[in-house]
Amino acid sequence: MSTQAPKTKAKPGEAERAKTTVRDFRLKKKSGEPITMLTAYDYPTALAVDRAGIDSILVGDSLGMVVLGYSNTLPVTMEDMLHHCRAVSRGANFPLLIGDMPFMSYQVSVERAVANAGRFLQEAGMDAIKLEGGRDRAEAVRQIVSAGIPVMGHLGLTPQSVNTLGGFRTHSAAKRLIDDAFALEEAGAFSVVLESVPARLAEWVSKKLSIPTIGIGAGVGCDGQVLVTHDLLGLFDRFTPKFVKQYARLHSVMAEAFASYKADVEARSFPTDEHSVTIKEEQWQALLKELDGES
Ligand code: KIV
Repeated sequence: MSTQAPKTKAKPGEAERAKTTVRDFRLKKKSGEPITMLTAYDYPTALAVDRAGIDSILVGDSLGMVVLGYSNTLPVTMEDMLHHCRAVSRGANFPLLIGDMPFMSYQVSVERAVANAGRFLQEAGMDAIKLEGGRDRAEAVRQIVSAGIPVMGHLGLTPQSVNTLGGFRTHSAAKRLIDDAFALEEAGAFSVVLESVPARLAEWVSKKLSIPTIGIGAGVGCDGQVLVTHDLLGLFDRFTPKFVKQYARLHSVMAEAFASYKADVEARSFPTDEHSVTIKEEQWQALLKELDGES
């Protein structure tokens, strides 16, 4: 197998496609065309998402749960993120690539936030970064943007705040979300994810903001949608949030394939000649003769 895998190119007959940019996000919001985004954490998934024509790939810190098996996203490190971002950037040519800043990579100081954000572009082939939080992160967003790095915000259910979560039971929570969304826009974010936000509130915020909103569990009124690919494919079997639509059940497809393989190996019905390397009869006989001569 070649070690130099070619990157995806538009094939003859395929529509010419340009790399999606932050500007395309704005244009799509203006024209009312929904923005499509999926997560990916590895090369083959990035290739498939790219080939499906999806606008943007988020290398989410959700990889801590769906790939690394942690019970939440808090243990995910910068090195984990950069490793997976590099794999994704090798597979995807056209989608806008967004790297998710992990817990404690941007909260300690604005300087650290800018430096860590820079690593996603400089070392891992990302085009932009995402971070969680609103007004309390506005200064970090402002400084990262002024360093030339596009920033996507993330409001609503913010998994890195798993220990301080609120919800939308009160007016003040809804009001806080609105203020945070405006603060992110004012600080220069190019887009904001709204996660588990009541659909009517998300639609209202989407209409008021000039930057596009990307919803996950936030209704159809957002400017775009994102799902965690492992949820969409049915690969993550621990739980499925209510807002996930499963487009496949790959976990059971995988488990069935592995069980069939085990049965074939145990019955010696795999490998057959079809899956075995052969040697020419005369070459084999010559080798046997030589070995006989040596013994
Ligand atoms: O980490 C992630 O995958 C995310 C999405 C749920 C938006 O932040």
